[in-house]
Amino acid sequence: MAFIITVANAKGGVGKSTVAYSLACYYAKRGASVGILDEDIQQTITDNINAWEDQGVDVPVKLIDKDNLPSYQSLADNEEFDMIFVDTPPVLTTQLETIYDISDMVLIPIKPSTSDYNSLMRSIDTLKSAMNRNTDMLTAIVINMAVKSSKVQDSFREAFKTEDRIKVLDAELANRVIHTKYILDSYSLFDTADKAAKEEMAALGDEIYYLLTL
Ligand SMILES: Nc1ncnc2c1ncn2[C@@H]1O[C@H](COP(=O)(O)OP(=O)(O)OP(=O)(O)O)[C@@H](O)[C@H]1O
Ligand SMILES: [Mg+2]
Repeated sequence: MAFIITVANAKGGVGKSTVAYSLACYYAKRGASVGILDEDIQQTITDNINAWEDQGVDVPVKLIDKDNLPSYQSLADNEEFDMIFVDTPPVLTTQLETIYDISDMVLIPIKPSTSDYNSLMRSIDTLKSAMNRNTDMLTAIVINMAVKSSKVQDSFREAFKTEDRIKVLDAELANRVIHTKYILDSYSLFDTADKAAKEEMAALGDEIYYLLTL
């Protein structure tokens, strides 16, 4: 049985694909067998992996073949992977609700901006209904492209303080240009020399793994 982490946010460009892919690379580096179901219409992760595989690199994160996937439920019964990431498009669809039903965690990257905060609050009811249907599912919010001493970041933490199953993660990812460009030089952020970016992603991966295995 694989842990299924669905990375979602109805807001576009918040880092869903970036975070899903680098976390997948992190767990693979730690020895896990990791699959990705790329449901993002932009196919960002598929492009990343294919570009490197075409150059003969054996990328240790494997794309799950959507065309031969009998159902989302079959992901949950999968024996091949320890962890599966599902990258999703920036829209709330009924398809997404079906994916939530088989997820162990919905990971929501969010940028520290008021409009992103408002957008998240508008989708919170959908998430709460999903958590009512799937009582094993956790929701974790990760502040991405964080900036130092932002009041918006503090208000995220305040807003979810009393929620048991919606957690704003302690790990944050700073706004770092490396995330936008490393893919040209390597398939993985963890092959770069950017110690700070790697440490942040690793801390995020460790915190998520801790929550999943509690
Ligand atoms: N922590 C970060 N620091 C700097 N740039 C980042 C960071 N995270 C993501 N980015 C950049 O922000 C842009 C959007 O990221 P990404 O494509 O991962 O977002 P997305 O939520 O998947 O977008 P979409 O909703 O369109 O699928 C990309 O150029 C990515 O490289
Ligand atoms: Mg994306």
